[in-house]
Amino acid sequence: MAEFTLRLRRYDPESGDAPYWEEHTVDLEPHRSVLEGILQAKDRFDGSIGIRCSCRAAICGSCGVRINGQPDLACHTHLGRAEKRSKDGVIEVEPMGNMPVIKDLIVDMEAVHWKKIRRVTPWLIAKQPVPEREYIVPRESMVDVTQSMACIQCGACVSDCLSMEVDPEFIGPAALAKAYRFVGDPRDDQHFERLKDLAEDPHGIYDCTHCFQCISACPKGVAPMNQIMRLRRRAGNDFKIEDRNNGERHEHAFASLIKQYGLLAEAEILPRSYGGDTPLAKFKPSAAAELASSLPSIAKALLRRKVTPAAVLKPHRLARQDLGQIKRIYDEVEGREERAEFNIYISGKDEDR
Ligand code: SF4
Ligand code: SF4
Ligand code: FES
Repeated sequence: MAEFTLRLRRYDPESGDAPYWEEHTVDLEPHRSVLEGILQAKDRFDGSIGIRCSCRAAICGSCGVRINGQPDLACHTHLGRAEKRSKDGVIEVEPMGNMPVIKDLIVDMEAVHWKKIRRVTPWLIAKQPVPEREYIVPRESMVDVTQSMACIQCGACVSDCLSMEVDPEFIGPAALAKAYRFVGDPRDDQHFERLKDLAEDPHGIYDCTHCFQCISACPKGVAPMNQIMRLRRRAGNDFKIEDRNNGERHEHAFASLIKQYGLLAEAEILPRSYGGDTPLAKFKPSAAAELASSLPSIAKALLRRKVTPAAVLKPHRLARQDLGQIKRIYDEVEGREERAEFNIYISGKDEDR
C-alpha cells in the first residue's frame, strides 16, 4: 500500500463558480488505477466528485480524462506510473479537452464526439442484391479495417486534436477513423459517395494538419491520423476526387516540392497547388486567379517571414547527395505496381512473424 495525492479539477457550470483544483490523498497499491484512486476519494472524502466509468477494464471508453496533461483512460493508467510522470509528485486529473464540461471530470460527448460520429454515416450501406446467405469478405479486407474497428469511442483523440481546437467544425480523428471502417469494407456500396462527401467538406479529410496528437493519445492503437491518410489516398489516388477545397492539389504540390528540393519551399506551395507541379505554375492564368484570392494569406506569410522574396527567387534545397536519397525513396514508392497499405496493428513487428 502507498499514498498518492490526486489533484482533481472541479467545476460545476450550473453553480456559476469558476473551476478550481482540489487535492485528496488516497492509499492504494501502485498498480491500481487512477480511476480507483478517484473512486476512493469520492467514497471517503467527497461523494460529489463527478467521474464517468463503467467497465474499469479499458473496454467501454467511458473514463477518458486528462492525466498530467495527457488524455488517457483513468482505468488504464497505474497510479505509480502516473505519479512518476507528474511534475511535482501530485497526479493531476482534469476533464478532456475540445468538449464542454458537464461536471468535474465528465465532458459532454454528445455535443461533440457523437455528433461527429453520426456525421459520417457510421453503418454499412449494403451492396445490392443482398446475398441469400452471408457475404464472403476477403481476409485482407477485414485485416485492413481491423485497426479502425478497435476504437472504443473514448474521445481521447478528439480531446487532443489541434485542428479541432482551431476549427471546432472539423469532423475530427475518431469520426474519420470510423469513416474508414466503411470505406475499407468491400460490402459497403457507397465508397465513392462517402469519400466525395468527406473530401468536399471544408471540415473534412483535408482539414487534418498531420500533428500526430491523435496517434499518441489513442489508448487502443487506432492511429486515427493514419486512417485519415488512407481516406485521402482512396479519394485522391483511387477515385481521382479533386475537391473544391484544393486539398488534393495541395497534397500533390507538397509531394512534388519535396521530390524536387528535398525540403518544403513555402513560396512555391500555393502556386503549385493552383497551377500544377512545375516552377512555372505561378504563371498559369488559372493559377493567377486563385492566387489573387489568396492574397490575404500571402500577405500574412510575408509579414511573418514564412516566405521571403529571396526564397521566392531561389528556393532552398538539400545538398545533391541528400537529394539523391530522397529521390530514391520516391522512385521506390512510385515504381510499385500496387500501393501497399501496411496494417501495423495486425502484422506487428517483422520479428514477431
Ligand atoms: S493528426 Fe489530424 S486528426 Fe489527428 S490530432 Fe492532428 S489534426 Fe487532429
Ligand atoms: S480512435 Fe482511439 S482515442 Fe479516438 S475515440 Fe477511438 S479509441 Fe478513443
Ligand atoms: S471504465 Fe471502461 S474504459 Fe475505463
